[in-house]
Amino acid sequence: MTTIRHLTDQLGGLAFGGDYNPEQWDEPVWKEDDELMRRARVNLATVGVFSWSLLEPEPGRYDFAWLDAHLERLHAGGIAVDLATPTASPPPWFTLVHPDALPVTPEGTRLTHGSRDTYCLAAPAYRAAARRVAGALAERYGHHPALALWHVHNEYATLCWCEHTAAAFRNWLRARHGSLDALNEAWGTTFWSQRYTSWEQVLPPRATQWHKNPGQALDFRRFWSDEALAAYREQRDAIRAHSDRPVTTNLMLPHYQNLDLWAFGREVDMVAIDHYPDAPGLDAAADTAFAADRARSFGGGRPWLLMEQGTSTVYAGDRVLGKEPGEILRHTLGHIARGSEGALFFQWRQSRAGAEQWHSAMVPHAGPDSRIFREVTAAGEAVARLGEPAGSTVTARIAVLHDSDAWWALESDGLPSAELAYHPALRRAHRALWDAGVTVDFAHPSTDLTSYQLVIAPALFLLSDATADNLRRYVRDGGTLLVQHASGMVDERLHAHLGGYPAAPLRQALGIRVEEHRPLGQDERIELSDGSHATAWSEALHTEGAQTLAAYTHGMLSGSPALTRHRFGSGQGWYLSTRLDDTDYAALIARLLDETGVGPELPGMPQSVEAVTRRAPDGRRWQIVLNHGSQTVSLPEPAHDLITGATAHRVPAGGCAVLRLA
Ligand code: GAL
Repeated sequence: MTTIRHLTDQLGGLAFGGDYNPEQWDEPVWKEDDELMRRARVNLATVGVFSWSLLEPEPGRYDFAWLDAHLERLHAGGIAVDLATPTASPPPWFTLVHPDALPVTPEGTRLTHGSRDTYCLAAPAYRAAARRVAGALAERYGHHPALALWHVHNEYATLCWCEHTAAAFRNWLRARHGSLDALNEAWGTTFWSQRYTSWEQVLPPRATQWHKNPGQALDFRRFWSDEALAAYREQRDAIRAHSDRPVTTNLMLPHYQNLDLWAFGREVDMVAIDHYPDAPGLDAAADTAFAADRARSFGGGRPWLLMEQGTSTVYAGDRVLGKEPGEILRHTLGHIARGSEGALFFQWRQSRAGAEQWHSAMVPHAGPDSRIFREVTAAGEAVARLGEPAGSTVTARIAVLHDSDAWWALESDGLPSAELAYHPALRRAHRALWDAGVTVDFAHPSTDLTSYQLVIAPALFLLSDATADNLRRYVRDGGTLLVQHASGMVDERLHAHLGGYPAAPLRQALGIRVEEHRPLGQDERIELSDGSHATAWSEALHTEGAQTLAAYTHGMLSGSPALTRHRFGSGQGWYLSTRLDDTDYAALIARLLDETGVGPELPGMPQSVEAVTRRAPDGRRWQIVLNHGSQTVSLPEPAHDLITGATAHRVPAGGCAVLRLA
């Protein structure tokens, strides 16, 4: 058994750097890179992510000379390497040799090269080529002194509906369901005459006439995630045979949900994520926290790594917004505060040509005499002073439940409302808690939740009886659980729970039974008996032991319960059957925090001040304070700030502090 080296042990502190593509430049630029990386305190460079066409210019002939030279140069400059396998972008020759390994869309269009990610993960030729190139790299560089981390592939995310996929899907279905009869039963194929009488008839969910079979669609998502994980494992194992450095892959968060991120979290040596916020200002800070809390949670609380962020990239609909002065550092520390062992960017130097030539970078087209490079340098200097907290972790007393199956299930065709999406519901719950200044974990609903005072289940649409029973036991044994509307409607096969929603064990814990869903009209906003307001969804529900805290006041639901609380065992099960307005939802969250005695990390601060504590196993603690607002704030207790090396009494508008707590 190989002992895997820790990244921060090798670096001697937290990581700072980014994707480095020297193959796009020439010698004078490399010389300048050496100098600028020193200035920016870069200590980790991700190399080779999209270099397959250089590494293997023709089938089976590798050219390592250029990579040897860059690794030597980086090493001589004291910069460690996060070496990527280049498998996210096969070279054009690969397409010609293996046209069957190109991806096919649900409509049956076969894509071709000319972009990136033009492969089918299930195509045997692609998988074999990926294993080979990963193995060849590992054999050559597995013990290179510059090597600190392996970066397998790039953002496993793309899907395919080709014949290879169909064959692999059938194998997966055979293993999952055992027989065609069981598959027919699971997918409910008697509906709409979909009954399969031979395995050859079973297909991935390609373009079809009307609603897709939801069971087929959900199984396809599960299958694809397993396929991606198998592809990752193959490369990891090919690397492991030659190297003792940690292996990971950069997961894309939060929008692409093509992977079961819990499963990936178990297989990587260190979770790594890429993060680009989708709205500016305070929303970007909240989104940073959302992504970071997910990353930490997927790794079971272990330290993780921010593999990519942008120096000015906030993807907001149809435009890319810049980051305001100070945001590069605040986002960097926002991730570090929540357990990241550093912060890397995409990419070091802004490309002069190519598909992402307008994407931000640490060294912009304008060169080092630029605000962006100065801010990058300031961030690098700050991170270089944060060696002390390396390896420390973050503890939360609240969890938001997060399940890929529930996410995928809510993407089924034919749901009662188009407003039942999982990601916004998850994000909203996290945002309300972030606004309240408390630290949050995400947790899988089937895991042991007893360390949490409060658990929130937004849109947990799919819930097996076994998992529902886990939640029931959590409440019985003293936990406080808030379940939100549209939870527990179907089981793991997407079959509706009969006799009233949600799943029976949860009904017991909540002391309610939902009889009917009544989605609200697009412009409908209703008032509840406690004066709060809600949109999108309502339910006809009955209490079976629960107390009604707020009732509906409109139409046929008038007088029937909307928000309930049930004392069950030594805990409490709360049920919210509608979507409250933001302020009313915040008030409910505040009430739950109050009842469970969970307070903000730094009491008395405005909402725009974020604080998180990292803890070392030996009891040392550091509090990271980020002031996203426009007013200086005073700290309740002065403390030593690792960034300035002096005692901090206050944190200026837009500023940060990393406080060593006594
Ligand atoms: C990431 C990707 C990078 C780059 C970046 C742009 O998702 O891994 O290669 O494309 O996005 O934001």
